[in-house]
Amino acid sequence: PTSERYPVQRLPFSVVSEEDLAAFERIIPGRVITDPEELEVANVDWLRTVRGCSKVLLRPRTTEEVSHILRHCHQRNLAVNPQGGNTGMVGGSVPVFDEIILSTALMNQVISFHDVSGILVCQAGCVLEELNHYVQERGFIMPLDLGAKGSCHIGGNVATNAGGLRFLRYGSLRGTVLGLEVVLADGTVLDCLTSLRKDNTGYDLKQLFIGSEGTLGVITAVSISCPPRPKAVNVAFLGCPGFAEVLQAFSTCKGTLGEILSAFEFMDAECMQLVGQHLHLARPVRESPFYILVETSGSSAEHDAEKLDGFLEQALGSGLVTDGTVGTDQSKAQSLWALRERITEALSHDGYVFKYDVSLPVERFYDLVSDLRARLGPRAKHVVGYGHLGDGNLHLNVTAEAFSTALLGALEPYVYTWTAAQRGSVSAEHGLGLRKKDVLGYSKPPTAVQLMWQLKALLDPRGLLNPYKTLPAHA
Ligand code: FAD
Ligand code: MLT
Ligand code: ZN
Repeated sequence: PTSERYPVQRLPFSVVSEEDLAAFERIIPGRVITDPEELEVANVDWLRTVRGCSKVLLRPRTTEEVSHILRHCHQRNLAVNPQGGNTGMVGGSVPVFDEIILSTALMNQVISFHDVSGILVCQAGCVLEELNHYVQERGFIMPLDLGAKGSCHIGGNVATNAGGLRFLRYGSLRGTVLGLEVVLADGTVLDCLTSLRKDNTGYDLKQLFIGSEGTLGVITAVSISCPPRPKAVNVAFLGCPGFAEVLQAFSTCKGTLGEILSAFEFMDAECMQLVGQHLHLARPVRESPFYILVETSGSSAEHDAEKLDGFLEQALGSGLVTDGTVGTDQSKAQSLWALRERITEALSHDGYVFKYDVSLPVERFYDLVSDLRARLGPRAKHVVGYGHLGDGNLHLNVTAEAFSTALLGALEPYVYTWTAAQRGSVSAEHGLGLRKKDVLGYSKPPTAVQLMWQLKALLDPRGLLNPYKTLPAHA
C-alpha cells in the first residue's frame, strides 16, 4: 500500500456506511459506483505507483449535485478526493486510504462560447482535447496544451495550474483563467465565474483555487480566454552539439523569430533513445547529444517561413545546430511534436520512474542532469533531461528496474538541496500532491507554509478535501 512508501496515517474521518451510500444514491441516482473493477482504475494513478482503497466513486453531473454531496460529507466527516482525468504526476489524484472519489467525468458540458472575445465557459470535467476541437472549429485554440490532453480535464488542469507546451506563448492559467465556480468543503457554492479581462474588485479569490490541487474546494466550472487560432504553424526539430549551443539557439531564436516563437522545448539523446526503443518512433535527424523543438505560430505563412528560414540559416551556419527538419503541414508537425510529447509514456515503459520537475536558472539547467548521472552511475538505468526550456522548467527523470530505497536515498534530498541552492522551484508545474508535499519547504519559507495552513483551516476546517496532499505535516 501507498502508506508504506509515503508514511502517512489515516486521520479519524468517518467510514462510508450503507446510509451514506443511500444518501448519495438519492442525490445522484445510478451514479454511485461501488463496483471493484471500476474503482480499481480510479484508485491507481497514471504512473501506477500510488494506490488508494476507496470503496466509492461518485459521478455528479451538476454543481448542485456536487454541493449536496459535499454538504453530506461535511456533516458526516467523510474525506473526499476530487478527481479529473487522473493524469496527475504527483499522486494527488487518487485516494491514500478510503477517501470518497468525486469524479468530474460527467461534468462535461460547454456552457457558452463567445466568438468575438474567444471566452469559453465550461464545466470542469470537459476533456482538454475536446475543448480544443470545439474552439478550433470556431477559429480559436485553448491557451494550454499538454501530452495528457486526450484524458485530462480542464478542472484538473486548473487545480494543478498545469503549464505545458504553450506556456511560453500564452502564459500561465493564472492569467488566462478569467473566472471559476467552486464548491467549498461545506457545500457552499462560490460563484466567481465571471468573463471579464479586468476586474479589480477586492481580492482575486479564484487565484487561491488555481493550483490548490483539490485541497481548498472542488472546481465545477471554468471561464477561460482562448487566443485566435494561428493561421500558420511551423515546427522545427533540430539537433544540437552541446548544451551551450542549445542555450545560444534559444537566444538566437528569441531574437530572430520574435513574436512568432510559440514553443521552445528540449530533450537529450537518452530521451530520444527511449522514445525509439519503447515507442518505435524514428529519429528524424542525425544523432546528436541534444534536440530542440521550435514552434512558430503566426498569421502569415510567408512571413513566418521567411523568419524561420533566417533563423535556421544562422543557427546552421554558426554550428549551433547540426541537422534539422521542418514540418509546415499539420501531419508532419504533429509527428515531430509526438517525439517530445510522448517522452513520459516512453519512460513509463522503461521501469520505475523517479520524476523531478524543477525550475532552474536556464544557465544551470542541464548541470543537474550531468551531476546526477555521475553520482548514480550504473545504479540508474537511465538519467534523462527534457522539458520546457523556454520557461526554465526542467524535467529530470531517473529510471530503474524497480523502486529502491537506496536509489531514492541517493536522489533525495540531493535534487532538492541542489535546486534550492539555485533558488529554484522543486515543483515547477506538476504540484506537490502526495509525493512532493514534504518538500514544499525547499521552495517556500516557513511563514508562507504557515499561512497556507491557515488558509486551509479557513476554507476546509475539518480537513476533508484531499487530505494528506500538498501541505507538509504540521510542525
Ligand atoms: P487529476 O490528475 O485527476 O487531478 C490532479 C489534481 O487536481 C488532484 O490533486 C485532484 O484532486 C485535483 N483535481 C482534479 N479535478 C479537480 C476539480 N475539478 N476541482 C478540484 N480539484 C481537482 N502537467 C503539466 O503541468 N505540464 C505538462 O506538460 C504535462 N504533461 C503531461 C503529460 C502526460 C502524458 C501526463 C500523463 C501528465 C502530464 N501533466 C502535465 C500532468 C498534469 O498535472 C495533468 O496532466 C493535468 O493537469 C491534470 O489534469 P487531470 O484532469 O488529469 O487531473
Ligand atoms: C511533460 O512536459 O512532458 C510533462 O510535464 C510530463 C512529464 O514531466 O513527464
Ligand atoms: Zn512538462
